[in-house]
Amino acid sequence: GITRHYDFNIQMANVTRLCATKSIVTVNGQFPGPELIAREGDRVHVRVTNHVAHNMSIHWHGIRQMRTGWADGPAYVTQCPIQKGQTYVYKFTITAQRGTLWWHAHISWFRSTVYGAIVILPKLGVPYPFPAPHKELTPVIFGEWWLSDTEAIVSTALKVGGAPNISDAFTINGLPGPLYNCSAKDTFKLKVEPGKTYLLRLINAALNDELFFSVANHTLTVVEVDAVYVMPFTVRTLVISPGQTTNVLLATKPAYPRANFYMFARPYSTIRPGTFDNSTVAGILEYHNPGSPSASSFDKALPIFKPMLPYFNDTNFVTNFTTKLRSLATKQYPAAVPQSVDRRFFFTIGLGTLPCPKNMTCQGPNGTQFAAAVNNVSLVLPSMALLQSHFTGLTSGVYAANFPAMPLSPFNYTGTPPNNTHVATGTKLLALSFNTSVELVMQDTSILGIESHPLHLHGFNFFVVGQGFGNYDAVNDPDKFNLVDPVERNTVGVPAGGWVAIRFLADNPGVWFMHCHLEVHTTWGLRMAWQVQDGSKPSQKLLPPPSDMPKC
Ligand code: C2O
Repeated sequence: GITRHYDFNIQMANVTRLCATKSIVTVNGQFPGPELIAREGDRVHVRVTNHVAHNMSIHWHGIRQMRTGWADGPAYVTQCPIQKGQTYVYKFTITAQRGTLWWHAHISWFRSTVYGAIVILPKLGVPYPFPAPHKELTPVIFGEWWLSDTEAIVSTALKVGGAPNISDAFTINGLPGPLYNCSAKDTFKLKVEPGKTYLLRLINAALNDELFFSVANHTLTVVEVDAVYVMPFTVRTLVISPGQTTNVLLATKPAYPRANFYMFARPYSTIRPGTFDNSTVAGILEYHNPGSPSASSFDKALPIFKPMLPYFNDTNFVTNFTTKLRSLATKQYPAAVPQSVDRRFFFTIGLGTLPCPKNMTCQGPNGTQFAAAVNNVSLVLPSMALLQSHFTGLTSGVYAANFPAMPLSPFNYTGTPPNNTHVATGTKLLALSFNTSVELVMQDTSILGIESHPLHLHGFNFFVVGQGFGNYDAVNDPDKFNLVDPVERNTVGVPAGGWVAIRFLADNPGVWFMHCHLEVHTTWGLRMAWQVQDGSKPSQKLLPPPSDMPKC
């Protein structure tokens, strides 16, 4: 592999959407930010210089970061933030991954505007395991747009202890599209020719919503998720959670159709309040006929077809889709599912409540403050980065390695609200020795209504060996686990009112964040961290910290 160099200048830029101009944090003045391209096996150096008044850090979502946890990016977990005027060079190697990932700011809610695609091509001369596409299209990144400042929204969410405002628009590559007021000119267009197969990369960078996506009158063949190839399958609509990436093959009509086609993305949610009016981002699939000079642009006289999306809370549709995902499990791309387990964990995932602090108005049930927790613990980020503390052996007062392996007490997670919604705040890590084979069952607690939580694990891919609804049955459910060809990924939806079981091998020393990728839940504390110890061989140890690591 070669070394690819990128310069990321964090700077403000004025952007106008929905008829209002706002100053936002960007990389190099671009929104969405620049695309990173590399081949499997390449080294990547990204020199990030912060020119804005806010502290910043960038996460390379899904990059394994083997032994380079220092470059992972979550603020106060693997690094202190990059302060104004400072530079930090993220250095990492892309190991055994190919497909689409993405990068985003990992501090407060700055990822609302600081994000971009990571395209990982296979090694030179190595073909895709599916028929070669004629062409690759520009990645499609879903996002959300707020008319107000997202930093004000997040501080309200914390101070008032209630739900923050929902976004004003969903976007494709930063563009809300024609279904929003004052937005027709800000419409994403995908230009295609007839009779071709395109590789389309999809990224969900939205802050708080899982999304359905469909292109009218076209099918999508899913070939990869989270930079891992999957057994291809064809759908009209797919589901993508915040944090997830999906590559599809899009086959265009054999002949130039005298029509244009909308693509829609809209939330899947079991709790989102209100109606779903005005929550659809539309883009246009625009055919260009290379043989006809007149057909070079969008023609308003032509009919436009719209896709049909599932109802907003159609959990059956979501389950149907996610259970179709399978690893290739071939000789060339084996599914290295841990067949035996060293340690089993059961985590409850969901919302809870904290007593309302004095002199505050809190909007949680009975005047409480909303919190979110894993096993009744709501993780608090320390003022020093956890990885540095871990590396220097400086734990006392910074964190405790006593994260509970089980919730406080068992209860019926899906029935009437249990009485132990009690949440404790603290910085607790779960310690694993090197190469521990882990099985983790995550159960939605349904405390404030059932809701799906897209859980993201940094530093690893995991295998989704099982999922189901209701309470997890530790006696009978493991018999149904798929240990042959389960999908391998870095972000998985814990089903609304159900559970998911994953397995992974703790072969990457460091401190690794795990959190709900719904930003509001992360803010409320639905986050924890694993502390994976060094192995005994030199090749099994975390590398020493780079000399330009930012200081807190
Ligand atoms: Cu994409 Cu910790 O996040």
